[in-house]
Amino acid sequence: MFKPTTIIEPFRVKVIEPLPVRTREQRAEALRKAKLNLFSVHADQVTIDLMTDSGTSAMSQEQWAAIMRGDESYAGARSFFRFSETVKQLTGMEHIIPVHQGRAAERILFTVLGGSGKVIPANTHFDTTRANVEASGAEALDLVIEEGKDPATEHPFKGNLDVDALTKVLSERSKDVPMVVMTVTNNSGGGQPVSLENMKQVREICDKFKVPLFLDCARFAENAWFIKLREEGQAHRTPKEISEEMFRLADGAWMSSKKDAFGNIGGFLSLKDDSVAGECRNMLILTEGFPTYGGLAGRDLEALSVGLQEVLEEDYLEYRIRSTEYVWRHLDEAGVPLLRPAGGHAVYLDAREFLPHVPPGELPGQSISVAMFLEGGVRACEIGTVMFGHTLPDGTQEAGPMDLVRLAIPRRVYTQSHMDYVIEAVSYVFERREQLGGLKIIDEPSALRHFTCGFEALGWDPFAK
Ligand code: F0G
Repeated sequence: MFKPTTIIEPFRVKVIEPLPVRTREQRAEALRKAKLNLFSVHADQVTIDLMTDSGTSAMSQEQWAAIMRGDESYAGARSFFRFSETVKQLTGMEHIIPVHQGRAAERILFTVLGGSGKVIPANTHFDTTRANVEASGAEALDLVIEEGKDPATEHPFKGNLDVDALTKVLSERSKDVPMVVMTVTNNSGGGQPVSLENMKQVREICDKFKVPLFLDCARFAENAWFIKLREEGQAHRTPKEISEEMFRLADGAWMSSKKDAFGNIGGFLSLKDDSVAGECRNMLILTEGFPTYGGLAGRDLEALSVGLQEVLEEDYLEYRIRSTEYVWRHLDEAGVPLLRPAGGHAVYLDAREFLPHVPPGELPGQSISVAMFLEGGVRACEIGTVMFGHTLPDGTQEAGPMDLVRLAIPRRVYTQSHMDYVIEAVSYVFERREQLGGLKIIDEPSALRHFTCGFEALGWDPFAK
């Protein structure tokens, strides 16, 4: 029987978008203008954009068709009911609150449940989650398992939450803990999955201390696929069944639907508790919109509703996870230091191993990201000291937990030849790694500094050939 090893994209191209192809000189100019911050580079200078998998998916013909069914009524639109039925079925939760993206849900939820004196444990808070927890006055606590903190350690579920550490926090101060958060997959920890077993253990602990459990479920379908592949006794189940079980272990969830719902915009907050839902809806009306559209157009709700079903198709998930693993494996074979194993939505370079001569305080991840853009027009994202570190009073940097460079793969957008090009570009920078040096931050804003700060090279020329 024919058993192909080639991973084919389970779709074909119907509409095309030209890729910008630029010269090294044009990219150097763009980098100078952007003060070496890739968030400030104009997208028309980027050949392969792996900055994020968020909002960058290609929608299917069914999603585009659904857009024509958008009901733009202010209140009670058909599109809302279609969306909320889909999300209700998936999550098993009664209250479905649409929002324009994940952080809007975070802002609403932590305004209602956060506040000073509170502490919110998670496996790892994503940057916007941490920022919104902290903006409410609460403390964001990362309690991922030890294996999840070391890029080189192999473990099938590196996103798991450390249950002993959680038990300790809850036995000391459960009254200050309004919720426990599990990010699935664990984006800041390398796109690594959480096992069903770990979720069940956390559920038990939450029950014991009467604390609600929330999922930050931007990539729930990828997490479910990893459970199917890696967890004992799960291989025969569908990703839909596994996802439904994941959600039924939780009391609430929020989703940036710009990821596993193939949306270019959108999100939701789903809740079981009537009174928390009521408070959240009041906040929603204040800043997002009426509860049946919540900052989205009816057509967006239609596209998301279709996307949430398509993402659970097995052909898609198999292709998705195998194609990320394809990039990971080729880079691994080229000797590039990587976070192990491959994540669901991204491949993460281990910047501390990649540039051992650049200490974390000199931002090795940023330096690599700049070089990959300069040489190949490949835009990635630093997830390390720039994103999670702090400038100390003496001007030095307190390092983040890890220094990673994330190559996030937009869904259904790039083909295998694009990925082969990326593998070549990263390998080229790796071969020349000794020429790269450190950077320092200039123009630092007070929060989420990685989006808008500038950088300067520390005594080397980042544009040298
Ligand atoms: N939670 C997780 C796990 C995320 O990855 C993100 C966004 C958010 C919440 C916030 O959602 O962007 O819709 O407001 N992650 C993007 C990324 C930005 O590039 O990983 P948002």
